[in-house]
Amino acid sequence: MSKDQYLDEAPAAATSGNLASQRFAERVASSQGDKVVDTERVDLLAGRAIKALNDIIIEERVSYDEYNALKAWLIKVGQDGEWPLFLDVWLEHSVEEVATSHREGNKGSIEGPYYVENAPELPWNGTIPMREDEPGTPMKFFGQVRSTDGTPLKDATVELWHADSDGFYSQFAPGIPEWNLRGTWVVNDEARFEMHSIQPAPYQIPTDGACGQLIAAAGWHAWRPAHLHLKVKAPGHELLTAQLYFPGDPHNDDDIASAVKPELMLDPKPTEDGKGVTVEYDFVLDPEA
Ligand code: DHB
Ligand code: FE
Repeated sequence: MSKDQYLDEAPAAATSGNLASQRFAERVASSQGDKVVDTERVDLLAGRAIKALNDIIIEERVSYDEYNALKAWLIKVGQDGEWPLFLDVWLEHSVEEVATSHREGNKGSIEGPYYVENAPELPWNGTIPMREDEPGTPMKFFGQVRSTDGTPLKDATVELWHADSDGFYSQFAPGIPEWNLRGTWVVNDEARFEMHSIQPAPYQIPTDGACGQLIAAAGWHAWRPAHLHLKVKAPGHELLTAQLYFPGDPHNDDDIASAVKPELMLDPKPTEDGKGVTVEYDFVLDPEA
């Protein structure tokens, strides 16, 4: 897909879905080349998953009409490029829980489908790339990165990416500059950072594709609460992938992606001029085992 393809189209599930699928495929290609298949594990997991579905069919007496609706829907998920979306909304939170349950440091959360590696590097107190007239409430987010024993981690980086005030992510929706609202802060000598951005809006997962069709058919809603995405890295420490949330969002209690945790709630304060918000949040990373 060409770079300007996302610049001149209306936001559409198939655009963001296919871009998310393409990005994921590129990352997997570069990281999974030498992985060996563990036949026993595949036998166990695929076998259990297939059995669970068969049990539902028998117990719920699923009809041919329902089976064919499922078949058509699964085909459409692929056509719309929405497998990353489907998996990250409905399954990733459990994988994240398994992966990080041993940690003493910060709680994490799902990565979601819209991460892009190598966001522009910024000084410890830099401003995120944004449009001149970027709509939204100005936000100053500051804090420190430490190890679980309290040592400041002076070689840490903090990556931040988030939706704009319409709920859209750069590189996945049309008409947004490439690195808009994405940056990598390099902490200072005291392992502190001060990030300047805007407050993101609540986000609705695309409603015009296969996932939206399921949501409508089941009578669910498509909302995620407003959130910041972060990746915090430091040598010798486990990578922290997290999301942070704003109190009072109507969807903090019923996030469609089940990715909100009480430890990830921010406490924003209005700035003196009343025009923006200031948020403090420290990150604590677990040393690698
Ligand atoms: C999805 C989008 C997000 O921004 C996110 O954080 C998690 C999931 C999604 O559309 O699947
Ligand atoms: Fe998100």
